[in-house]
Amino acid sequence: MLTQENLPTPTSLAPYNREDWQKGYQSQPKEYDYWIDDIEGEVPVALQGTLFRNGPGLLDVNGQRLHHPFDGDGMVCAIAFDAGRVHFRNRFVRTAGFLAEQKAGKILYRGVFGTQKPGGWLANALDFQTKNIANTNVIYWGSKLLALWEAAEPHRLDPKTLETLDKENLDGILAEGDAFAAHPWIDPSCEFDGGAPCLVNFSIKPGLSSTITVYELDPTGKLLRRQSRTIPGFAFIHDFAITPNYCIFFQNPVRFNPIPFALGFRGAGECVKFEPNKPTRIMVIPRNSRKPMQILEAPSGFVFHHANAFEQDGRICIDSICYEDFPEVEANSDFRQVDFEALRPGQLWRFTLNLREQALQRQLLLERCCEFPYVHPDFVGRPYRYLFMGAAHNAIGNAPLQAIIRLDVTTGEQQLWSAAPWGYVSEPVLIPRPDATQENDGWVLTLVYDAHHHRSDIVILDGRDLNREPIARLHLKHHIPYGLHGSWTPKVF
Ligand code: CO
Repeated sequence: MLTQENLPTPTSLAPYNREDWQKGYQSQPKEYDYWIDDIEGEVPVALQGTLFRNGPGLLDVNGQRLHHPFDGDGMVCAIAFDAGRVHFRNRFVRTAGFLAEQKAGKILYRGVFGTQKPGGWLANALDFQTKNIANTNVIYWGSKLLALWEAAEPHRLDPKTLETLDKENLDGILAEGDAFAAHPWIDPSCEFDGGAPCLVNFSIKPGLSSTITVYELDPTGKLLRRQSRTIPGFAFIHDFAITPNYCIFFQNPVRFNPIPFALGFRGAGECVKFEPNKPTRIMVIPRNSRKPMQILEAPSGFVFHHANAFEQDGRICIDSICYEDFPEVEANSDFRQVDFEALRPGQLWRFTLNLREQALQRQLLLERCCEFPYVHPDFVGRPYRYLFMGAAHNAIGNAPLQAIIRLDVTTGEQQLWSAAPWGYVSEPVLIPRPDATQENDGWVLTLVYDAHHHRSDIVILDGRDLNREPIARLHLKHHIPYGLHGSWTPKVF
């Protein structure tokens, strides 16, 4: 492992090299099933359960390149930890679109993020079909393993084999074609349900006005509460935040121009335009559906992910990763050629809302480029101290995520483990140690793409001290393309 102190003398200031980074976006068409035997360090025997990850597995269809990784077919990995042994498995989600395209050997659907069918705009005009690509997150809830994609219903997988069973309507909660977002939160102790955990998720129907529906499910998957609220204007909302009493949504200042999409020139996601002179609107929706929604305005900015939120002293704090503008996808560009230095980094901000006075303050918590925040599961929606995130190796500037950072949000203290110059990290997941008494006492798991060996590693870090060498590094026999989100279940599959 290389830390900031013992890095080789860099040939440039960048701790990465773009050709290395690009290799992590090669497709992985193969499906594997094996016990991992190439391990540095020792896997803790007490670490028992399964880490599920989701992300685009294919960045091309039979050589036809996708325009954006977000358009790639979902491939789920299951990494099962059992008494010190670790098993790896990956499988594509067999969506209808995946099966049809694999059979045809070519792109049949337009992607939301600009992938077009071959044949130019004429071949794409007035084609509004979407392909449910099931590539964004994967959760085990109510004894069901669900691959999530925000614009349509989940796909249910067999948690043991990762075989795709079918599209899932959650025992009738969702109607055909209903969406279910890819960012559910688990409220560890719901006040409405006598302290039992519940899963809170949403769906959004964008339009001239947009409808947000909030779903709350009990641990068996049964619907506890559902409510819908209509907000003015188009909304592009990927994630939200929860507290014991509220759901909080950020309506980024964007507009949608459907004409280039309809005419076949651009994907729908490429028709979203950032409006830098308009405020971000923050919708505070009480989980008690009889109470009114409140809307506050914040300075312009774009948020994909919220780290956490909590209520304290009559205020609501929301910690979110903000961009100064929406990273628009250019129609004729290749995402692999992105100029990191030309873009503004995502940075962690705290928004403090005073609902009674309709007042809002914001404060920069971390300047370093960061993404994929993760908090201890017991502190979701509660005052907390430690935030784990993917981060850039350097403290300033925009760059690929090569490090895992632990930020103490109460003191600003940072700990960093860096995989630079060859490693590129993914979302960290914190698994509390059994009998832990400290919020940071757990294992931090992350999948790291190692460009030097063109393979991926599962790295286990000690949440109590991220500056230490990893507890273990498990080498896969192959690479996994950069993924999106995943989750942990204490069940061993
Ligand atoms: Co996300």
